[in-house]
Amino acid sequence: MPFNFDTIDRHHTHAIKHELYRNQPVLPMWVADMDLASPPCVQDALQSRSAHPVYGYTHPWPGLNNAVVNWCQQQYQWAIDPSWIVWLPGVVPSFNLAIDAFARGGRVLVQEPNYPPLRKAAAFRGATVIKLAVTTSNPAGWDWSTLEQELAHPDCHLMILCNPMNPHGLMLGQNELQRLAALCREHQVLLCSDEIHCDLILESALRHCPAGSLPDIADHSITLMAASKTFNVAGLGCSFAIIPNGDLRRQLQSNGQDLMPHPNVMGLLAAEAAFNDGLDWLLALRAHLKSNRDQVASVIGELDGLRYLPAPATFLAWVESDLAPGEAMTRFTEAGIMPSDGKDFGDPYSVRLNFGTGRETLDQALEQLQSYWRQNRPNSSR
Ligand SMILES: Cc1ncc(COP(=O)(O)O)c(C=O)c1O
Repeated sequence: MPFNFDTIDRHHTHAIKHELYRNQPVLPMWVADMDLASPPCVQDALQSRSAHPVYGYTHPWPGLNNAVVNWCQQQYQWAIDPSWIVWLPGVVPSFNLAIDAFARGGRVLVQEPNYPPLRKAAAFRGATVIKLAVTTSNPAGWDWSTLEQELAHPDCHLMILCNPMNPHGLMLGQNELQRLAALCREHQVLLCSDEIHCDLILESALRHCPAGSLPDIADHSITLMAASKTFNVAGLGCSFAIIPNGDLRRQLQSNGQDLMPHPNVMGLLAAEAAFNDGLDWLLALRAHLKSNRDQVASVIGELDGLRYLPAPATFLAWVESDLAPGEAMTRFTEAGIMPSDGKDFGDPYSVRLNFGTGRETLDQALEQLQSYWRQNRPNSSR
């Protein structure tokens, strides 16, 4: 069935992507949601539920858990038990909860640069963040001896991995994950893996490997997933954790008791519909995003002072620069494009461009950039 990946006009829907820069003449290409319609199966499920006029607290149901179990089996060859699934109102609250439950007062390892809420979470929860520098030149992106040294620290009880990584779009291969899992096990460090982007792998030859599927770490792991990024339902407040170890699961749940909101009923329904019936749409979406990504790479490659290595995952292009700190951001804005500022991710030389949009919008954005660069050639500073 052909699917439509044209830009949907989101003005007048209070979308934060548009609202934040409402009075500025810029194309919003920042926050990580797409300008594309959710799959028809998701729209149908939501419309049919919204016809019932009561929208009260809703308990996750067995068919919903089965949808996740089947998805994990089909997509990652990971056999999970439905009882391992904990539904939560979002991935950001989930990793914050994990810090509360398992690392308060201790040290928490995270990659850097990284998604801003992941950079900030430890400090917000009374823990110390330890930043592990990653680069775009190496698949795992970090220095293994530094990693091991940090894992061995007596106060390090938790690593929060972001895989695939936001902002780089890099993903860890099975061998690297295996190595990480063995080190975490050796040093008794809990691995909480934010895998919200794991179904947006744009290369058909690559497979995502969930952290919890590795025998070395399964019993000491929390894998965080959601339908939100993949099926463009991020406003519906819903995600899930997969926690094979019953003690860890109960501890996380008890820390969230009377604190975490119930997951949104529409988010639960969207996840069920997406995982049950959304695969054809997702395959078509990946092809669309891959073509967008390659177009971004071909245009950025011609702009002096910028570098973009097409990454295997996500709809986010991490554009690095040789310009002065903040200059890439200023130039994109002057060209009429609003990316995310790399400084918020820990790298003021870079910007993150969201290419999860229709082709016409992307082409317009890239033409604006080309034309601006033609008129304003930069001086490289690095
Ligand atoms: C790595 C990562 N984790 C979490 C989130 C947000 O998760 P949620 O909206 O479910 O809290 C994002 C959104 O961009 C993200 O990129």
